[in-house]
Amino acid sequence: MKNKNIIELSDAVKTYKNGVTALDHVSFTVEPGEFIFVVGESGAGKSTLIKLLTREEKINSGKVALDGYDLTQLPRRLVPFLRRKIGMIFQDFRLIEGKTVFENVAFAMEIIGTKPEMIKRRVPLVLSQVGLRTKMNMYTDELSGGEAQRLGIARAIVNNPSLILADEPTGNLDPVNGEAIMALLECINQEGTTVIACTHDKNLVDRMSKRVLEFSNGKLIRDACHATYSNKSACSDALVSRQAEIEAETAENYDYFGQATGISEENEHIRIPKAIDVEKFILDSHKRRANRREERRTEQKRQIIEQGEVRQESHSNEHYEDFSG
Ligand SMILES: Nc1ncnc2c1ncn2[C@@H]1O[C@H](COP(=O)(O)OP(=O)(O)O)[C@@H](O)[C@H]1O
Ligand SMILES: [Mg+2]
Repeated sequence: MKNKNIIELSDAVKTYKNGVTALDHVSFTVEPGEFIFVVGESGAGKSTLIKLLTREEKINSGKVALDGYDLTQLPRRLVPFLRRKIGMIFQDFRLIEGKTVFENVAFAMEIIGTKPEMIKRRVPLVLSQVGLRTKMNMYTDELSGGEAQRLGIARAIVNNPSLILADEPTGNLDPVNGEAIMALLECINQEGTTVIACTHDKNLVDRMSKRVLEFSNGKLIRDACHATYSNKSACSDALVSRQAEIEAETAENYDYFGQATGISEENEHIRIPKAIDVEKFILDSHKRRANRREERRTEQKRQIIEQGEVRQESHSNEHYEDFSG
């Protein structure tokens, strides 16, 4: 029977040749479709975790499984097939210099033997999804940091991976571009792709309220749902209301894309919606969030005023009773 977890680590230990134990008896599982932040100080073991999942590194003991395949047992010749399931995103983008935006994405398809007609059709679609359709013929050194990372994402998703691994994807970006990149990853996740993002970006982690795996000195010290970067245990009321907020937001975003996209049957194999205007989507989502905040504030004020009135009324009743008594 096939395991339902896309990732399973069980008592995994990774010690490098220099004696450093980068992962120390780590166990956790990930179900398909989850969005997970991996956080922790520099040197905590985040990148090592990513490298174990791509079989760039092998564990010393324990078990690492991806999509039901035991990576400790996987023959080297099958590693390229494992990697087809994964889309990688790096802090330093790792684009191919001297190639255009189109050629960078096309290359990821060429190396797995995709037919040229298919590449010609699919690359512009994926570039539309990340808002780079009009920059298709530019060279990588002509792109801004945010654009370069959006190209990194296009390349990562072009072969429809079931898992996205992003190692500090916003590390070289300003907060606005960082937010845009995370919003894109969230869209991709909402269409069903599992996303694991290692990050130092405290604000993004807090704002997005996803499952957080925290590492310290190679040990998994926290595994929390809908968590913030550093809160050990958030108040349960806050979790419930944040969850409702996320659900409302997801529905709204879906509506937005529903109007803006219209994916034809021919392109149904592309699972993420076509983001014709990524910036507009992000701005709209900011506006919606601000509106909801304002509504909540007004409602809170109204409740406080009401409670105040009730209290005043009961006070005057007490006076009345005092007199009567
Ligand atoms: N190839 C390597 N050889 C030896 N030690 C390494 C290697 N890669 C990482 N380390 C060590 O393993 C620990 C975890 O590193 P890393 O996984 O890169 O952490 P993070 O990504 O959280 O900063 C660190 O102490 C680092 O110095
Ligand atoms: Mg790292």
